[in-house]
Amino acid sequence: MYIDVVFNPYEFKSRDPIGKSITVIDVLRATTSIAYAFWGYRGSDDKTPQGANKIIPVETLDEALELHGKINGDDILLTGERFCLKPKDFDLGNSPNTYLQNIVQGKTLIYTTTNGTRALKLSEGAKFITTSSFVNASKSAQVLFEQGNDVIVFCAGRSNKTTIEDSSCAGLIVSLLVDMCKKDNIPFELSDGADIAMTYYQQNKDNLLFLLQKAEAGQNLIEVGLEQDIEDCVKVDFLPFATKFENGTITLL
Ligand code: MLT
Repeated sequence: MYIDVVFNPYEFKSRDPIGKSITVIDVLRATTSIAYAFWGYRGSDDKTPQGANKIIPVETLDEALELHGKINGDDILLTGERFCLKPKDFDLGNSPNTYLQNIVQGKTLIYTTTNGTRALKLSEGAKFITTSSFVNASKSAQVLFEQGNDVIVFCAGRSNKTTIEDSSCAGLIVSLLVDMCKKDNIPFELSDGADIAMTYYQQNKDNLLFLLQKAEAGQNLIEVGLEQDIEDCVKVDFLPFATKFENGTITLL
């Protein structure tokens, strides 16, 4: 298994996704909020997914509004962010704790965010696509391992730039894959990017909250009063399920 990490969409352009598994990471907050949306955020220890039925990621606000115009109904919600905040006429923004069970259960979300949904759309063409975050890292790594394809861990970054939060989560996914390969005697090879991400994660794994708070995206969330979101995004393995992105739609696996 060849395990590669690309740190931003600009770098992704040099990769060939054909035949590979890709996991997209946007820790603050798209791929984290996707996981919470499937759970249905609630004040309970019950981790059974009781949230959204499916999520349709689209790149632009116009596309989101147009699709909403076409498939509008009681079971459709328009969700996502621009500049960290809920866009006008949207039902929900992008804070994990707004994807409440009683709001999202059974619903289809039309979802657009600045970087995360763009990275998902760029991944189309890969053999298998999933989403990862700190909150569902182990489950994501497990499905990537089970697929058995070479892996690209694709950090969404910000405006084509590398970010601390996505790179450190990528390192966690690489570490988990390496452990699984070693346990089952599966040969593996790491790209230099995968090695860098894993080393960065190992060096910082005890200070993830601090790391995310000092990240540029973390600073932006703090500036708009959404510091709580960072705490929701840093809970490693809080949620025990993985997703798949296929035919334009994200569902639970
Ligand atoms: C993104 O896609 O860039 C993020 O989700 C941004 C955010 O949540 O504020």
